[in-house]
Amino acid sequence: MDKDNSSIEYSLSVNGNSHEISKSWLGESLLYVLREELGLYGSKNACEQGECGSCSVLMDGVLACSCLVLAANATGRNIETIESLSDDDSLTVVQEAFIETGAVQCGFCTPGLLVTIHDFLETNPEPNVLEIREAISGNLCRCTGYGRIVEAVQIASKQKSTGQGGDDVSS
Ligand code: FES
Ligand code: FES
Repeated sequence: MDKDNSSIEYSLSVNGNSHEISKSWLGESLLYVLREELGLYGSKNACEQGECGSCSVLMDGVLACSCLVLAANATGRNIETIESLSDDDSLTVVQEAFIETGAVQCGFCTPGLLVTIHDFLETNPEPNVLEIREAISGNLCRCTGYGRIVEAVQIASKQKSTGQGGDDVSS
């Protein structure tokens, strides 16, 4: 398809801000527009097939692979990316726990995992190991073996339940 002849205009609500998209090809994915049009590089492109979870975002509060969503179809939806987890340079409890346990190696999977885990802990603040493993089963990590990621979720859960973390999972 000729990109020049199929540009469309629409708006996207991302992390609380409205963006006018004017030069987008009709078939572009939300992931592409987030990264290449809006400069939000946190969401990663690893498979572009909905297999790895590296591109995870929330759409109206529901976890989604942004590589599988047509950007034009996301108009009118409230999109939250990894960049929305913290308002400033401070780290969330989950991010701190990732550092503490060494759950980040190459880091390519980390943004998608963090979006998934923040969302998961919002609905299940005190999960067991099986629930944690199930929650992150859609996020592929080629480096860590998952043990440290699971440990990080357990630490974050404990800190939040004892009020030591301070942040809301959605903040
Ligand atoms: S890049 Fe979207 S699921 Fe892998
Ligand atoms: S830390 Fe490398 S893919 Fe997960």
